[in-house]
Amino acid sequence: MRERLDQLHVTARDELAKATTDAAIEAWRVLYLGRRSELTKVLRSIRDLPATDRKDAGQTANSVRKSLQIAYDEKIARQNQALTRDDIDTTMPGYPMRLGSLHPLTQTLRSIRQIFAPLGFRAVTGPEVEWDRYNFELLNIPADHPARDMWDTFHVQDDKRPGEILLRTHTSPVQARIMEQVSPPVRMIVPGKVYRYEDRDASHEAELMQVEGLAIDEQITMADLRGTLAHFIRAMFGADRDHRLRASYFPFTEPSVEVDVSCHVCEGSGCSLCSNTGWIEILGAGMVHPTVLVNVGYDPQQYQGFAFGMGVERITMVKLGVTDIRDFYRNDLRFLRQFT
Ligand code: PHE
Repeated sequence: MRERLDQLHVTARDELAKATTDAAIEAWRVLYLGRRSELTKVLRSIRDLPATDRKDAGQTANSVRKSLQIAYDEKIARQNQALTRDDIDTTMPGYPMRLGSLHPLTQTLRSIRQIFAPLGFRAVTGPEVEWDRYNFELLNIPADHPARDMWDTFHVQDDKRPGEILLRTHTSPVQARIMEQVSPPVRMIVPGKVYRYEDRDASHEAELMQVEGLAIDEQITMADLRGTLAHFIRAMFGADRDHRLRASYFPFTEPSVEVDVSCHVCEGSGCSLCSNTGWIEILGAGMVHPTVLVNVGYDPQQYQGFAFGMGVERITMVKLGVTDIRDFYRNDLRFLRQFT
């Protein structure tokens, strides 16, 4: 009996070692540990043995069964491990998840809003297809004024109102639109698209973005304008970027200035991007002209204010070190991915 059991034990273990598939292992279990297995038969036959041999045979048979059960459990465990180790390579890199990101110009627009919001400037918008009256007339630029040459204009053809409709050349018309509607104080910024009939090159686009700013109240002075712009430039570009105000001319502001920041390519020493001046112009500004205030029904004796209009592309170029304005509109992912 003992020999029979030992033989069974050895054969069973050999065969288990050879079983590799799940089906073979299950067949082995039925054969050696199942209810009709050889081992079960032996266990049953023990009661026919003489009483003296029974105990010994019982113990041996039980220990064989235990041993095979353990061998089987280990085999199953190893089989499961093989699954995770060999079939699934957990060291393989996963599929990359491509996350979208904001266009660099959108990022700049958001920063501008965030800088002006705490100063009380509310963002408003106006139409891109505009009346001549708002784009020019109300801003102190009558029909035959030579200053119209400052903005090369796309006109929209309309036979009933020839010459009256155009693509706005700046965001300044929204100044007049808002002032017509509300009484002072006014503090607003106007982000939006503007259009210029212009030759495109590395620093000029025919379709670009501006953010207009307007503050009207009693006793606003040029110092408020300077302080507001200095704060903006510091917040946008950091404390160490130089800026300067240059006397300039706009029909709707008096006095008028243009604001330059030091060139991001040559750091001020002069290069082709800044036409060897060391400076890049980012905005026009000034104190709102009394005629404009009268045009919208404000009393210039009581109210004054400042206005500015900045180029979003220019600001983004200086901030991110971009040297060709046209890159913003090429939709080349190799360019855009640098700024995610
Ligand atoms: N609208 C002017 C431009 O586009 C900029 C500007 C805005 C200047 C407001 C003064 C005040 O060139």
